[in-house]
Amino acid sequence: MLVTGESVHVLHIVGARPNFMKVAPVLNALKDHANVTQTLVHTGQHYDVNMSEVFFQQLKIPAPDVNLAVGSGTHAKQTAEIMMRLEPVILERQPDLVLVYGDVNSTVATALVCVKLGVQLGHVEAGLRSFDRTMPEEINRLVTDQLADLLFTPSEDGDENLRREGIPAQKIFRVGNVMIDSLVRLLPAAQKALVQITATKPDGTPVRYALVTLHRPSNVDDSETLKSILDSLLEVNRDLTVIFPAHPRTRKRIADFGTPTGQLRLLDPLPYLDFLGLQSRATVVITDSGGIQEETTYLGIPCLTLRENTERPITVSMGTNVLVGRDREKLRTELSRVLAGKAKKGTVPPLWDGHAGDRIAGILVNRPLPAKAANLKVI
Ligand code: UD1
Repeated sequence: MLVTGESVHVLHIVGARPNFMKVAPVLNALKDHANVTQTLVHTGQHYDVNMSEVFFQQLKIPAPDVNLAVGSGTHAKQTAEIMMRLEPVILERQPDLVLVYGDVNSTVATALVCVKLGVQLGHVEAGLRSFDRTMPEEINRLVTDQLADLLFTPSEDGDENLRREGIPAQKIFRVGNVMIDSLVRLLPAAQKALVQITATKPDGTPVRYALVTLHRPSNVDDSETLKSILDSLLEVNRDLTVIFPAHPRTRKRIADFGTPTGQLRLLDPLPYLDFLGLQSRATVVITDSGGIQEETTYLGIPCLTLRENTERPITVSMGTNVLVGRDREKLRTELSRVLAGKAKKGTVPPLWDGHAGDRIAGILVNRPLPAKAANLKVI
C-alpha cells in the first residue's frame, strides 16, 4: 500500500485503435489518486487521424507525452522498431510500473522491453485465448502473459487459461472489462451523435441495417476469401442495408484485388461515438473484430462473427455472439433468424459494469510499491 509521501509512476503504452478505449478508463481512475503520476506513450502503430487522433479527442485521453511514430511494417519490423524506440524512453522516465493493453504488436514489444530491463509489467485484458496460433494476436497474448507481473482479466475463462499455463494465482486479478467502461460512459453521447442513417424513414419506421467490419489478415489478405465474404455481404444487402466502415488494410486489399463491392455502403473508419451509436441501433452486426463481439454482447445486439474461433468465448456462452466462420449457409440461416426476430438473446457477463478501471486503480494503489528495478540501464 502506498504510504504518505510515497508515489508511484505508472507508464501506459498504447499503439493501435483497440487500445484507446481500454486505456481511457484506467488513466481516469488513476488520476483520482494524488500519489500516482502517469506517463502516456503512443507507439504510433496506428497513425491515421481516423484510426488514432479522433479516438483521443472523443475519449478525452490527454495527448501522449511521447509518440514513437513507428508506423506500419512487417510484424518483425514493427515490433523491433517499437522495442528500439521504447527502450530509451523507459530508461529516461524510470517508471515503477508499465501497463500494456490488449494483444497488438505494441503490447508484446513493450512486454519484451520491460522484462529485459526488470521493470514491473501489468497486462490489461490478460488471459484471452483463441487457441489459434496462426493468429498474430494469439502469439502476442501468450508471450505478454508469460512476461507480465500483474494480469488483469475480463472474465473467468481468462483466469483459467492463465492458471493452466502455470501463472501463479497471486498475479491474476479478475477486474472485468475495461473497454465496457468506455462504452458505459459514452453510450449516451454516442446515441445523441447518431449519424443520419439511423434516422427514421418518412413513414416513421426506423431504418434497419447490418453494420459490418472486417480486417483480420485471414479474411482480407487472400483475394478468393475476400471475394467470397463480400459476395455474402452483397446477399445480405438484399434484405438489409449493409453499412461497412472499412479498415485501411481492407480498403487497400479491395483496391489491389479489384474486388467488387456493388451496393455496399463502404465508409472510412468511423470515430468511436459514431460507430458506437451505429452499433447500438443495428439490426445485426457482422464482424471479425474481437472488441465488437464484446460491445454487441453488452448492448444486446445480435453479432455474427466471421471467424472459426474466438478468444472471447463468454460472448458466445453468455452473450449474443454466434460464430459463423466462412460458412455462407450458416450466415444465411443466422441472418434469417435475426430478420424473423428470433436472434440469440444474451446477458451481460459479470463485472462488465463500467468499473473495471476503478478496480485496476484500487489494486495498484493498495499494493506494496514495487522496488525500483536495480538494472534500469542497458546491460
Ligand atoms: C492491428 C492489430 C489488430 C487489431 C487492429 C485494429 C496487431 C498484430 N494487429 O491490426 O489486433 O485488431 O490493429 O485496427 O497488432 N494502416 C493505415 N493507417 C493506420 C494504421 C494502419 O493505413 O493508421 C494500414 C497500413 O497499410 C498497415 C495496415 O493498415 O500496413 C495494417 O496495420 P497494422 O497496425 O499492421 O495492423 P492492423 O491490421 O491494423
